[in-house]
Amino acid sequence: MKAVVLDFESRRLERRDLPEPRLERATDVLIRIREVGVCGTDRELASFSFGYPPAGDSFLVLGHEAVGQVVGTGPAVTSLSPGDWVLPSVRRACDPPCANCARGRRDLCLSGGYRERGIYGLHGYFSEYAVDSEQDLVRVPADLLECAVLIEPLSVVEKAIATAVRMHESGPRRALVIGAGAVGILAALALQARGLDVAVQSLEDPDHPRARIVRAAGIRYQASGGGGEADIVIEAAGAAEAAVTGVRSLARSGVCALLGAKGAPAGMELLDLIVKSQTVFGSVNASPESFRDAVIDLGRFDRRVLGMMIRRAGFGDLEHSILGPLSDTPKTVHVVGE
Ligand code: BGC
Ligand code: ZN
Repeated sequence: MKAVVLDFESRRLERRDLPEPRLERATDVLIRIREVGVCGTDRELASFSFGYPPAGDSFLVLGHEAVGQVVGTGPAVTSLSPGDWVLPSVRRACDPPCANCARGRRDLCLSGGYRERGIYGLHGYFSEYAVDSEQDLVRVPADLLECAVLIEPLSVVEKAIATAVRMHESGPRRALVIGAGAVGILAALALQARGLDVAVQSLEDPDHPRARIVRAAGIRYQASGGGGEADIVIEAAGAAEAAVTGVRSLARSGVCALLGAKGAPAGMELLDLIVKSQTVFGSVNASPESFRDAVIDLGRFDRRVLGMMIRRAGFGDLEHSILGPLSDTPKTVHVVGE
């Protein structure tokens, strides 16, 4: 079968022919991949700044945002049958499992020994077929198929928002999202669906296609900030400066979630956090509950807006997603099979 892999010896991203995976354990499910979404993580993996192949292999099949159809099941599989549409979760438990991995919260793995499909130590889904355990697959309602590839990034957002809302003691009313990529726009939609007054702030100028998507959803877009008014801030921009802007935008008792920022920010006054009772936290990956929330939320978002977020590319059209310049459309999705 055809696949897209990162070769860690030649340090190249390439198309490769691989043997089809087979059902091995009784709980295994064979899926035919329909499409794979690409995100900033894949672009960084392709620059070999992190990630590693499975033990014994020198290459890693890329892709962790996938939608597929069940084509075969092991004898112990009870909840899925051929024809069902599914989406794999990304993270797999550490071994032996820590307390959190053991209770199904691999997103909070305590040992750091977790693996992630298409990222750390396990092959991903940028291939025609993949095998997963029944418990690692999320069922996709057939009427969500066209936008289901957004469920994985949305699950990451759902977890961060649920955590932020829980931490905000007096009930948040105003929210600010920093960054107008797929994660930022999904965060804005999810906050709006919870009834918050939302704005998105990003570097793109106001007539950029991403800014237009935000406005098409009825959400304010701003190229620079007011400051000091947001009860919840979601940083989805990837830069240290965005984290600083986010924290500066917090109201008293505000909560800021960092989803992408890296580096050591300059210009953050820690005493401000203390005297204003503000919270800053980091969040990664998703819980089973946030996958369920993502499926529910996706079903109530405006389909026209979701359609504007996605552009589809051919199987190996990597210049237009991973290797080339960033597309104006937030989510590039490679069509693998129908
Ligand atoms: C994925 C997460 C994953 C994270 C870190 C993100 O792109 O959506 O599921 O945990 O990368 O590897
Ligand atoms: Zn991703």
